[in-house]
Amino acid sequence: MAHPAFQDDIIYQIFPRSYKDSNGDGIGDIPGIISKLPYLKKLGVTAIWLSPVFLSPMEDMGYDIADYRHIDPIFGTDEDMDELIKKAKKAGIDIIMDMVLNHTSKEHKWFKEASKSKDNPYRAFYIWRDEPTPIDSTFGGSAWEYNPATKDYYFHLYAPGQPDLNWDCEAMREALYDACNYWLDKGVYGFRLDVIENIGKEVEQGIIQNGPHLHERLHELNRKTFGRTGGISIGECWCADHDTRLLYTDPARQELSMVFLFNDWCTFHDKEFGKWKCRPFSPKEYRDIIYERQSGDQSKAWDTLFWNNHDLPRALNRYANLEYRDQAAKMMFAATMFLRGTPFIYQGDELGMVNGHFASVKDFQDIEAINHYQILQDKGMSKEEAKDALDKTARDNARIPMRWNSQKGYGFTNGKPWVDGGKDPGHSVSEEEKDPNSVLNFYRAAIALWKDKQYRDLIRDGAFSPDYLEHEEWIAYSRILGNRKLRVIANFSDHPYPKPIIDGPVLLHNYEDDNEEFRPYEIYVFLNE
Ligand code: NOJ
Repeated sequence: MAHPAFQDDIIYQIFPRSYKDSNGDGIGDIPGIISKLPYLKKLGVTAIWLSPVFLSPMEDMGYDIADYRHIDPIFGTDEDMDELIKKAKKAGIDIIMDMVLNHTSKEHKWFKEASKSKDNPYRAFYIWRDEPTPIDSTFGGSAWEYNPATKDYYFHLYAPGQPDLNWDCEAMREALYDACNYWLDKGVYGFRLDVIENIGKEVEQGIIQNGPHLHERLHELNRKTFGRTGGISIGECWCADHDTRLLYTDPARQELSMVFLFNDWCTFHDKEFGKWKCRPFSPKEYRDIIYERQSGDQSKAWDTLFWNNHDLPRALNRYANLEYRDQAAKMMFAATMFLRGTPFIYQGDELGMVNGHFASVKDFQDIEAINHYQILQDKGMSKEEAKDALDKTARDNARIPMRWNSQKGYGFTNGKPWVDGGKDPGHSVSEEEKDPNSVLNFYRAAIALWKDKQYRDLIRDGAFSPDYLEHEEWIAYSRILGNRKLRVIANFSDHPYPKPIIDGPVLLHNYEDDNEEFRPYEIYVFLNE
């Protein structure tokens, strides 16, 4: 069956600042990533999503871009980036750039010009108002910032250093398309599109996500950039409902390849404190959302299958009992990767990495965590509760250095890491490499299975059918194509159940032996033909 190339991709996200430092300054960089291409090739991934490496004042760790065409010196040079694209391609790995098209940094030359005077030609690239409206920025405080030179306010949904672009302005849109094409012409595969659901916003009406012009803008972006080269497009969407997800990904509409949706994560948020105080995880509530995306008409939309990224605390801490850390890490990956969609691995998932340890509030470096320590107290939390919320939820947790070994600097750097946070013994590449039963070696086997030509059609195109719905703590389903059936049965709990019948050859299993019971976090993937 003809299918778009992206449906055979398995994507690895790198947060460059924390991946591998090549020059001892304590910050990961592009030459560091190049040195790890053999590791990534061995893991089996087909593409890297690179969190932003563009020139930036780093107010939001690079999601504040000051120049779309140049690499920030902390990450290396423009030539290093060219080399990464070339060497990765040679290793069979494509590069996906992280494009932030909703806003720039206020250090971008467009904003520097725009903020000078009301008649500056770049003024229309941004959103201005004489008086602020009552709308808060995601990182806390008003979303309007006063600009003394023009005596009015510009809009910023994130930090004050991240002014929002005005997508009504055609010249601005064309300038962004040029920047995207610059990278496509260099051979990048496509883009992860940061908070793309916001580009249709109508600030005056208080509409941010899913605004009236969103879909026509996505179509235009597609036609003028990645659609031209057949590139991949992964739209970050926190809030899309499932029907909107169908619109985004309908091939006939030519918008996006897939949306990176967080509604499964957000469903546990607290009404008042949001993500900072989640309700206990329930596998049933989680799976209800995931299964809906796989069923009926919804299955037309290609899914994104992920547990972690640079904006979330580690899912292992959040969803599993860490007494069973390795089993849970293996189970979670395998439980969702055989659904219809693209599996995403966030750096360190393949080791079973967990949250960082931040001894004091001062150790958090993310603007969101720093601001929220106060915001949470203003909303009624005590200092201790606010620190606890940061410990459990801050994005810093996902941003601690990759553990290449367990020595000082974690094999990540010879210098002092830009952020610490790792007190975790073991679970490094060098240790897991040697252990045939490590999380790392399980990931390798799972990826090899996912890519195996014998099962590729079945995993890509097979119809989804849920199994064992009566067991609310199980994730169990079949993928069916003709008379072939791939079955996945996982116990998403820390207690045993009676063992289900495994009637077919087992392709993947996360315990070293067999047992009468269905043990905590145990998973079987098997053929049932
Ligand atoms: C989403 C990114 O993933 C996040 O890290 C960033 O802070 C916001 N967008 C703003 O760009």
